[in-house]
Formats: sequence, structure tokens, C-alpha cells
Amino acid sequence: MLYQYQCLFSFLLWVIYLVSATPAKDITNRQAVPFVQIEGGLDAISVGSRFNVWGVINNEIFRYTGNDSVPWVQIPGGLAQVSAAADGTVWGVSSDTLIWRYNGVSWDQIEGGLQRISVGSSTNVWGVNNNEIFRYTGNNSQPWIQIPGGLTDISVAADGTVWGVSADTRIWRYTGSSWTQVEGGLQRISVGSSTDVWGVINGEIFRYTGSASSPWIQIPVGLTDIGVGADGVVWGVNSADHSIWRWTGE
Ligand SMILES: *[C@@H]1O[C@H](CO)[C@@H](O)[C@H](O)[C@H]1NC(C)=O
Ligand SMILES: *[C@@H]1O[C@H](CO)[C@@H](O)[C@H](O)[C@H]1NC(C)=O
Repeated sequence: MLYQYQCLFSFLLWVIYLVSATPAKDITNRQAVPFVQIEGGLDAISVGSRFNVWGVINNEIFRYTGNDSVPWVQIPGGLAQVSAAADGTVWGVSSDTLIWRYNGVSWDQIEGGLQRISVGSSTNVWGVNNNEIFRYTGNNSQPWIQIPGGLTDISVAADGTVWGVSADTRIWRYTGSSWTQVEGGLQRISVGSSTDVWGVINGEIFRYTGSASSPWIQIPVGLTDIGVGADGVVWGVNSADHSIWRWTGE
């Protein structure tokens, strides 16, 4: 009887070895993770949904076509950062901190200055500038209202979720009136919804677990920017080689 159990145990070990040694189909340059590389080169990316994916590289703007064989079409204009929402809203900021909203053909300037911007929908637009936080009022004659707090990156989802990170890499979630700290450290953050939050620090990617005791799980891929859509679609880029990756996980 003992011998049979030993045989069974050895067999199980062998199966585990085989399964773990089988390479995944889509492999990044480091480890077998559920990301597939998409042709092209970008330094930063934003995902509103699978239908609204935008990126920038060297001040040039690109939009995903929906066809992986010819994935990108260049959009006229120049931006340092772009943000896309599930409802089709697209805003960006240029390197001189000017603020631009896409009208479907070209860019309309909105008064003010921001270093980073995030759109969750046409009415939910936030940005940061010199550590200060601003929210779009919807009134272009007086477009921004300052929100108390200090952040270097911010992300807004279609469901109204707002998270940010401060210069000391601390992580903050907006409650509607103030900021609650979430354990951990990140330099960049992207929220698709209240339960779908991803971030980047030092080229490493983390996903929010929802658990207070262990809020972040590392995704074993090296990326420098990440975008999460309202529908759960996740894209990332690695600015070291400008490679573009789309998450194929659940
Ligand atoms: C994608 O683009 C390629 C190359 O232009 C084309 O042959 C193919 O039909 C397109 N696929 C779809 C689904 O549009
Ligand atoms: C927009 O703001 C301006 C300046 O404060 C104000 O005069 C105007 O009434 C506002 N418009 C709306 C639609 O609230």
C-alpha cells in the first residue's frame, strides 16, 4: 500500500513538472505571462475599452484600429500623454502642459495647465499639475476646480472611481470628499472600475486584490505604463523598447 502511494506521489510530481515546464504560447521577454505583443511602438498607453485604445510616442498620437494586423493609425496633433474613456471621450496634455480634448477630427484646447490627465467619461475628467489636483467642472469658461490633496498621477474610471499616487509613491483612493491611503507603493496607476485597479513601479506591474491585508499581486511582466478599460481590457507598454502588450488573462 505504501509503495502504491509513493508511486502515485512520484507520478503527481512528474505531472506537475510537465505542466510547469510547458511553455505558454505568448511569452514576453522575461517569463510566461498572459500578455500578447501587438505590433508597433509606444511609450504610454490609455484604454477606455477594447474599442478605445490610444497611445503616444515622441509626441506623436496613435489610435488602435481594432485590427491586430494593422493596429495603429496616427492621429494629427502632438501630445505628451493621452487618456481615453469607454464613452469615446479622449483628452490629452502636451509637453507645455496645454490641455486638449478630441472632437473626433482635431483637438480643442481647454483653458488651464496640466501635466497628467485622466478621463473616465465626458463628465469625469481629472488632472494633476505640480502636485496639485484638478477636476473638470464641465464649464469651459471656468473649467477646473482644485481638489484638496497632492498627487503626481491620477486615474479615473467610467464608474466614477478615482485613484492617485503621490510623489512618495503612496497610493490614494478618493472617497468623494477626501483621500484614503491604500497600502503599497506605485508610480503610475490605472483604474478600469472600482474593482479593476493596476499600477506600475520601477517597471513592475501590480494588480489590486481588494484585500486590505494584501492589496497587491505582482503580474510577472516588465512594463512601464499600463491602461485598464471599463470592460477589463488591459494594455501595457515598455518604454525601454517601446513594445506594446495586451493582457490575455481573465
Ligand atoms: C486586418 O487588416 C488586414 C491587412 O490590411 C486585412 O487583410 C484584414 O482583412 C483585416 N481584418 C479585419 C478583421 O478587418
Ligand atoms: C460658466 O462659468 C462662467 C464664469 O464663471 C459663468 O458666467 C457661466 O454662467 C457658467 N456657465 C454655466 C452654463 O454654468
